[in-house]
Amino acid sequence: MNQYVEDNKDRFLNELVELLKIPSISADKEYSDDVYETATFVAERLVAAGADEVEVMTTDGYPVVYGEKIIDPNLPTILVYGHYDVQPPDPIELWDSPPFEPVIKKTDLHPEGAIFARGACDDKGQMYMHVKAFETMMQQETLTCNVKFMIEGEEEIGSSNLEPFCKNNAEKLACDVVLISDTSIIANDVPSITTGLRGLAYLEVEITGPNRDLHSGVYGGAVGNPINVLSDMIGKLIDENNKITIPGFYDDVEVISKEEREKMNQAPFDLDYYQRDLDINEVKGEDGYTTLERTSIRPTLDVNGIWGGYIGEGAKTVLPSKAYAKISMRLVPRQTPEKVYELFTDYFNKLAPNSVKVKVTPHHGGVPAVTPTDTPEYKAASMAMEESYGRTPIPRRSGGSIPIVAMFEKVFGVKSVLMGFGLDSDAIHSPNEHYGLFNYYKGIETIPLYFKYYADLKSKTA
Ligand code: BES
Ligand code: MN
Ligand code: MN
Repeated sequence: MNQYVEDNKDRFLNELVELLKIPSISADKEYSDDVYETATFVAERLVAAGADEVEVMTTDGYPVVYGEKIIDPNLPTILVYGHYDVQPPDPIELWDSPPFEPVIKKTDLHPEGAIFARGACDDKGQMYMHVKAFETMMQQETLTCNVKFMIEGEEEIGSSNLEPFCKNNAEKLACDVVLISDTSIIANDVPSITTGLRGLAYLEVEITGPNRDLHSGVYGGAVGNPINVLSDMIGKLIDENNKITIPGFYDDVEVISKEEREKMNQAPFDLDYYQRDLDINEVKGEDGYTTLERTSIRPTLDVNGIWGGYIGEGAKTVLPSKAYAKISMRLVPRQTPEKVYELFTDYFNKLAPNSVKVKVTPHHGGVPAVTPTDTPEYKAASMAMEESYGRTPIPRRSGGSIPIVAMFEKVFGVKSVLMGFGLDSDAIHSPNEHYGLFNYYKGIETIPLYFKYYADLKSKTA
């Protein structure tokens, strides 16, 4: 291990523990003070690590933490992006320890121990690796590139204020590459680099039947029950081959060549383990595609939540007035959230029987992104991981979304490198989220190598 990292191991971990104690839940207004406090915490740590011009910059939402170290304007500039906000922890009763009281425990995949807390992997743990890697480079005097930090507080709610922020601060944010650790590797002995992210269209539907809740005996059988109707409509969105039935939904979907799909499927993947880990008898997804393909190059539709009627204790006989669902669609290259919202809304209205009224409200979205592998930006990541893991990382597309990636390319023409260090099994967005100590330290060690190789490669291509 890097000597400075080795010597400061415990402190690096203790600082992360402090960061994880602040419940920076961007989705819940109740936690607003904590979100601001987290921004201040990150800013203070950037100053302590040696960054200049550190600032908690306001937006129309939560602030962006900025900091930089410009060592030579002629050297390449790496913009580090991460997020300090986290997902809500619920269902809280399914956590083995409180989500904002970090504990370290061993697991099968993390025999060295993992830190359990909301945000441990997504993204506080991964973002903080960059702060500590920067400190390491400052202390060892090995910084080879200019660095800028842009750490936001609204990623988990769609980053909707980030595009105006970037446009308003274009000069300040000017860079050659965006470096992001907010994704996963295949396994701790199988490093990989994420080369694609899916987009997202998220919406809420409301079905209204009668103007008030009714006695299900007196009226039942004669009045459309919005929950029954909504369930039926949702059922019609996916057919028996697990294809999405929305007309035109697949029209823009990028067709991937047979060769590329074959290559994709060579990545190590153990279906048995996958099923065992999730305690399912069988996977389920679009006909004609493998699990790896279903979770990367194909679009999806999922109900994230559904509610209405009586859900309290015991039985209450009621025919409810309203039913609701939150529905998300993951998008792949060439699909856009705007068009998908439109297609969905038209179709959903057509699916509704005359006995109910439909309201569809779009939430945030995100555009899909792919990153090339034949660039100095990607190669530097590959060389850095190869050196720290002793194995060449495998490029692979991921199923998640990070809205800034496509946005940054559209606005500034700058590509991102998705050098994440988490595992898919780290339970991000779920109870008992955790992040391996091995992964945390490996990240802190690998990031300075990225700086080294990126400066090298850029000086050769300049
Ligand atoms: N870090 C995740 C995205 C991710 C996770 C990408 C794992 C690849 C592998 C990010 O914080 C996230 O959760 N994004 C949201 C999108 C956002 C618009 C709410 C998502 O993917 O649901
Ligand atoms: Mn994240
Ligand atoms: Mn997330």
